[in-house]
Amino acid sequence: TKSFTIAIDGPAAAGKGTLSRLIAERYGFHHLDTGLTYRATAKALLDAGLPLDDEAVAEKMAREVELAGLDRDILSRHEIGEAASKIAVMPAVRRALVEAQRRFAARTPGTVLDGRDIGTVVCPDAPVKLYVTASPEVRARRRYDEILGKGATADFEAIFEDVKRRDERDMGRADSPLKPADDAHLLDTSEMSIEAAFHAAHSIIDAAL
Ligand code: C5P
Repeated sequence: TKSFTIAIDGPAAAGKGTLSRLIAERYGFHHLDTGLTYRATAKALLDAGLPLDDEAVAEKMAREVELAGLDRDILSRHEIGEAASKIAVMPAVRRALVEAQRRFAARTPGTVLDGRDIGTVVCPDAPVKLYVTASPEVRARRRYDEILGKGATADFEAIFEDVKRRDERDMGRADSPLKPADDAHLLDTSEMSIEAAFHAAHSIIDAAL
């Protein structure tokens, strides 16, 4: 039997993580947050004191990433996200991680992969593609509220600048830039609750199943 793949792409903090988890749960599909594979590679380099700009070294680390051992809590740190977006510009790193992601995507009965290039590069034949986005202000605001919610302090302007810098790096790179696939359904969550976004995604998926 063939696997049914749902590809979810979009910029940082657009809500695709939460949405992907809800969808995977609803349909009983396996879920892979592909950002964690870039983060795990970056963390391994940082921990080993290795440079972030040596493509051969970074590729070797990427090939050692175990999908089963990806821990969101350990990998969520801001510096790791920054380092991840730096190593994500290197084609050899992307090739290594995309191979692992494609093997994951083939699991049955179905899979949800979220990231930046799932609908365009990793799973171009996915029967459902969603491009989840929101304005940079709204995404920065959500990050900010999330941090305050944990009882910590944050600087809104710094987070806002950060969101824009990450967008530029992800959309501007030559290999697999962030952009909607031609056949992706656009979901702008700027003025949408997570429940509303889930409902919209749900109808799109049911129509394709
Ligand atoms: O989504 P997350 O913030 O965890 O991703 C960290 C970084 O990894 C992104 O900023 C992006 O540069 C890179 N990434 C990527 N392709 C993916 C997923 C993440 O280039 N499919």
